[in-house]
Amino acid sequence: MSIRFDSGKHVFLLETPSSTYVIRLYEGHVLHGGWFHRLPDWSGACVTPSCERPSFSPVPEEFEGKTYFSPDVMQQEFPVTGRGDFRVPAIEAVDASGVNGAEFRYVSHTIGKGKKPLPGLPATYADENEAETLELELADPCGPLRLTLSYTVWEGFDAICRHVRVKNTSESESVSLRSVMSASIDFPHYRFKMLQLSGAHVRERRMITRDLCPGMQAVESRRCMSSHQQNPFMALLETNATESTGEVFGFSLVYSGNFIARSEVDQFGTCRAQIGINPYNFSWKLEAGQEFCTPEAVLVRSEQGLGGMSRTYHELYRRHLCRGAWRDKVRPIVINNWEATYFDFNAKKLFALADTAASCGMELFVLDDGWFGHRNDDRSSLGDWFIFKDKLPEGLKQISDGIHERGMKFGLWFEPEMISPDSELFRAHPDWCLHAGERKPALGRHQLVLDMSRKDVVDYIEQAVSSIITESGLDYIKWDFNRCPSDVASASLPADRQMEVSHRFYLGLYDLLERLVAKFPQVLFESCSGGGGRFDPGMLHYMPQTWTSDNTDALSRISIQLGTGVVYPASAMSCHVSASPNHQIGRMTSLSMRGHVAMAGTFGYELDLNRLSAEEIAGIKSQVELYKQIRDVVQFGDLYRLETPLSSNRLEAASYGAWQYVSRDRKRSVVTVAWSYAEANAEYLLLKPQGLEADARYAIRCSPENNPPVPAGTCVSGGELMYCGLRIVNQAAYGGSLLFILEKV
Ligand code: GLA
Repeated sequence: MSIRFDSGKHVFLLETPSSTYVIRLYEGHVLHGGWFHRLPDWSGACVTPSCERPSFSPVPEEFEGKTYFSPDVMQQEFPVTGRGDFRVPAIEAVDASGVNGAEFRYVSHTIGKGKKPLPGLPATYADENEAETLELELADPCGPLRLTLSYTVWEGFDAICRHVRVKNTSESESVSLRSVMSASIDFPHYRFKMLQLSGAHVRERRMITRDLCPGMQAVESRRCMSSHQQNPFMALLETNATESTGEVFGFSLVYSGNFIARSEVDQFGTCRAQIGINPYNFSWKLEAGQEFCTPEAVLVRSEQGLGGMSRTYHELYRRHLCRGAWRDKVRPIVINNWEATYFDFNAKKLFALADTAASCGMELFVLDDGWFGHRNDDRSSLGDWFIFKDKLPEGLKQISDGIHERGMKFGLWFEPEMISPDSELFRAHPDWCLHAGERKPALGRHQLVLDMSRKDVVDYIEQAVSSIITESGLDYIKWDFNRCPSDVASASLPADRQMEVSHRFYLGLYDLLERLVAKFPQVLFESCSGGGGRFDPGMLHYMPQTWTSDNTDALSRISIQLGTGVVYPASAMSCHVSASPNHQIGRMTSLSMRGHVAMAGTFGYELDLNRLSAEEIAGIKSQVELYKQIRDVVQFGDLYRLETPLSSNRLEAASYGAWQYVSRDRKRSVVTVAWSYAEANAEYLLLKPQGLEADARYAIRCSPENNPPVPAGTCVSGGELMYCGLRIVNQAAYGGSLLFILEKV
């Protein structure tokens, strides 16, 4: 890792272990030089396009005796509007004269060790030896704005983290920021497929790819949350890249609100890729002297295909984005009462569930929705974070103590950013919800959204959640968010700041979370939003795991989890075994398959254990035991997607997913294959594990143990496993899935 400035060539070279990112200075203009395989040196002579283009690409100025250029044809580092570049700009700002336009020139730079935090925003972090940061200062010679473009390179990661700070240096006049991206890169070609993670509630993060073509292709959220529908991420895969080969660029935004990730292919076949806050319903009044900071964009370059990109994100996010006592600890096995009881519980039922869970070896009991206010269904009480006395007359302490006595940790569900119209909180503070003037705000799941841009609201939630944590000795919190904010307006802000509310909402939330995680470092926080509606890097900074989806069906989970794992590590991906038939889609699957699929992340159960047969309970006990043996490999190992929806163009109708985790010391590995359905007289499936030591020998164990495709006690070299593979037939006898444990002997 290093950042070098070649003052002779006016070039910055940002070096990661296997790549070089180039920034050029040209007569004060800051131009992008490219992001390549690691270079010894860079002259730019071969890739810089000839500057002349005819009159439809205007030229801001002609340099004396030198070739002039139009911004329209140059690779820009942070493109502006109004000076002849007609591609999408990275910043739009309207100054006091009402003009939308600015132009920035290099002023100075600093190169320093480590990485500074971003004010009020979640971000990756590093100490002095782990990263280096370049800050480029740019100023508009004819306007009040100054930009700081920040770039961090990492020891050991092919990643560059970028953000931008915009300062209004005027002494008296404000500027209205209309859009400011966190990162922009101009690629000299568009031979890319764009990968996005798209879906819906209970159908999150499908891997979708498309070939780029001229024009704009974008994914975005306008839901005031990162959303189930699109994830704040995109990747550009060189057209011949695969899961394990070729060049891939990832763009991920450390943010939980409205975002946009876009690729614009222009008239000359170049591609501008950007990620940042969505300009939709956004503007920011920057008063004289004030600074605006964008969220952080985390850019990853891989030469080992999509898999290489994912592994970089996983390790970077695990070690440099997640924080706290739980960051490096294996996560407890959960029993959650939601799909076991829904709202219909009392202390007796909860303890009966806890007794069975404890006897099966589970470690954390989570009491879900319905313990507060007078909440017997989803129509009331959000905001009233005090015990529902009629349901739990002995209080929460009794439940918490009872769970602790059974040797388990105790956790609670909250939905702190919401307010029910039927709540004491709403009756006391009707203006605390997001709403636009006299217009009645729209309900979602019978609830309204609190106005997190208000400090009084944030203070209230901090106090309410803190006192429950302290009084009940909580070890864990599931932090839910069950509707998209609509009516995104605030009673506490003036007219010219209403379009700041969607961003201020997240500044308020991040402030609240920062206070809570600082106060309660031992508490394990799990983010949730109707499952995976806010599965984003912003939330991961405060909460090291997220409830992946409200859909707990094992087959649906194959694609949801494979898609989630494109960016997010298994330690962040919460997965539970639930009942069969499944409550969301009615499908029946074997207990064994539900277990194998849920073992791809942080593991748990969410069903009424006391309605199961003795045989099923025995099955669960052995699953819990198995997961305890493999969880460190799963949660902290390297992921290899062996078969994904991207590669499932197969002869037979039955499709399957296969994935593998390898411990970082390569001594242990877990390989799982799960079929969507059984096939008659099926094709052979050749599973080729990856990431093993070719010369080492690995003993193979298989789950289920009866009738294994590889006899128990088999021991072969890593090379044989990787190059010859494991040959399997899809057999109903396997119950729909197989899990292999490989251990170096
Ligand atoms: C959301 C969550 C579920 C459950 C319910 C409770 O839908 O995703 O897991 O907690 O809320 O109302």
